[in-house]
Amino acid sequence: MIEFNNITKKFRNNFWDKEFIAVDNVSFRIEAGDLIGFLGANGAGKTTLIKILMDFSRQTSGNMNFDKIMGQNSNEIKASIGYLPERPYLYPHLTGREFLEYVGNLNSINPENLETRINSWSEKMQIAHALGKLTKEYSKGMLQRLGFVSCLIHNPKLLVLDEPLSGLDPIGRRDFKKIMVELNKSGVTIFFSSHIVSDVEEICNKVIFIEKGKLVYEGNIDTLLMKHANDLYTVKTLNNGKVEVVHLRSEEKNSYLEKMLSQKIEIIEIEKEKITLEEIIYKIKE
Ligand SMILES: Nc1ncnc2c1ncn2[C@@H]1O[C@H](COP(=O)(O)OP(=O)(O)OP(=O)(O)O)[C@@H](O)[C@H]1O
Ligand SMILES: [Mg+2]
Repeated sequence: MIEFNNITKKFRNNFWDKEFIAVDNVSFRIEAGDLIGFLGANGAGKTTLIKILMDFSRQTSGNMNFDKIMGQNSNEIKASIGYLPERPYLYPHLTGREFLEYVGNLNSINPENLETRINSWSEKMQIAHALGKLTKEYSKGMLQRLGFVSCLIHNPKLLVLDEPLSGLDPIGRRDFKKIMVELNKSGVTIFFSSHIVSDVEEICNKVIFIEKGKLVYEGNIDTLLMKHANDLYTVKTLNNGKVEVVHLRSEEKNSYLEKMLSQKIEIIEIEKEKITLEEIIYKIKE
């Protein structure tokens, strides 16, 4: 869908300052149907890359290729993307509904369709009750919900979301993740940035991980988990009223269990140890 080839972005704030490399020779692909988590610490370069993707900022070098399904020219490409910025500006003196109507008109959606879409998405994002209020009266989570509705209003093929889950309470995060998965299942490709590895692990098929502007990992999450899975088992036994825990490699497991059974020691639990995406990322970085 989109191919990033060797994207580099350098900043120089003053003529005499040294150049700062915010994005360093990054290449990866977004395929149609992907749900990609774009991970990296504060200042890693996520927003910078997203701004380049959205054409708000120009890369110093490198290029992007957009597949034909995204559109034939830059206007069509932009129209096929729904974008939620890190800090959305939602016009404080408009009501939620007025704001959504404004966004819909910018996207030339006919008024009837627009009202239907506003109502159904607001209902889904649980913000319908507040559409009559001025957005300056919204809480942070309400603004986030309204912002999310606004980037769905024109039926985008691709969603580009810069930290959509930050600033949400646990229920809000769960709602957002659920809707992101539903949208993805219905055919919308999603690329979103986050600091939270577990959120990415929970819903994404792919992860892109950058550190200090450099790509550290790009790929499938299941493959990564499988590759790094440690073949370890935890076995808990009960011996004379005392619980004992041992960690065993796969090839040691059966003989250990046989020994315990022959000694009539009770086995109370056997569990394969799981590795999380978070642990893998720390490993890759080392
Ligand atoms: N316009 C700019 N001028 C100079 N430096 C910039 C500019 N925009 C970003 N940077 C620098 O580029 C680096 C990457 O910033 P960026 O906003 O892309 O990080 P991020 O990964 O989005 O971080 P966060 O998780 O905090 O949002 C930072 O060191 C930042 O100071
Ligand atoms: Mg950012």
